[in-house]
Amino acid sequence: MNSPIAVIGGTGRVGRLITERLLDRGEAVRVVGRSVERGRDLPEPAQFFLGDVREPETLRIPLRGCSAIVYTVEPGTDPDGPDSPESTLHTGVRNALTAAFGGTVLPQFVLVSQRYVTRRDHPMNAYGRMLDWRLAGEDAVRLSGLPYTVVRPSWLTDLDGDSRITLEQGDRRDGYVSRQDVAEACVQALYCPSARGVTFEMRSEPGSGPTDWEPLFARLRTDEPALDAGARQLLDPVPDRAIA
Ligand SMILES: NC(=O)c1ccc[n+]([C@@H]2O[C@H](COP(=O)([O-])OP(=O)(O)OC[C@H]3O[C@@H](n4cnc5c(N)ncnc54)[C@H](OP(=O)(O)O)[C@@H]3O)[C@@H](O)[C@H]2O)c1
Repeated sequence: MNSPIAVIGGTGRVGRLITERLLDRGEAVRVVGRSVERGRDLPEPAQFFLGDVREPETLRIPLRGCSAIVYTVEPGTDPDGPDSPESTLHTGVRNALTAAFGGTVLPQFVLVSQRYVTRRDHPMNAYGRMLDWRLAGEDAVRLSGLPYTVVRPSWLTDLDGDSRITLEQGDRRDGYVSRQDVAEACVQALYCPSARGVTFEMRSEPGSGPTDWEPLFARLRTDEPALDAGARQLLDPVPDRAIA
């Protein structure tokens, strides 16, 4: 790509793998994170920017002029306040989207979300309504007008080696996926036109991996028109209800 790619959460486990893969492709990578110490440990020549998605002004400079943004941020689990899922999975995503519109180029946006996000009765929603806020963050991306991909990993593993990849939609199933495979999916989404405007769950198991991701993405259904997601967000942003 002609301009840098920002990886928000690039000091984390998935984010670092994404950063390495992008550097291998010769991309200029800007990593955004909250820790200077973790920023020092990045693969060369990634450029570290101290930033916090909860503080919009810290995103302005790192995201300016980027051709793409990958958002892979781990949430806190407090019910509310700065360490709640709301702050990173919804407000933080919206802050990144706002910063993305700050330059002359409209970047691609890849959001790492999670499987179960539409299953409100799943136990994970008990942690600060994590699933509700993730879905609200996804909706913000789908409504943004940017070219986007939403990746919903299953439970993450650190398995290495070749994997058979399954991409699914409808959020009905379960499974595991390696961080390596999630990182690869995020990177491939930046280069494959058929990954634009899609939301998918993914799992992987030992086996042989795809040589070409374009047909994998091409089998997916493009998301419903933004109006549907928008209507849901307007009518029911994250309804206040008790989590079972
Ligand atoms: N664990 C699972 O089974 C599972 C399943 C599905 C999806 N996921 C999701 O997959 C994503 C990647 O997971 P991972 O294992 O790579 O997580 P990780 O290793 O914990 O990395 C998370 C990254 O988020 C960054 N971060 C956290 N709060 C931030 C903030 N306020 N501003 C900027 N950066 C912030 C951290 O950077 P600093 O701390 O340096 O700021 C770190 O780089 C996460 O969204 C996770 O929730 C996880």
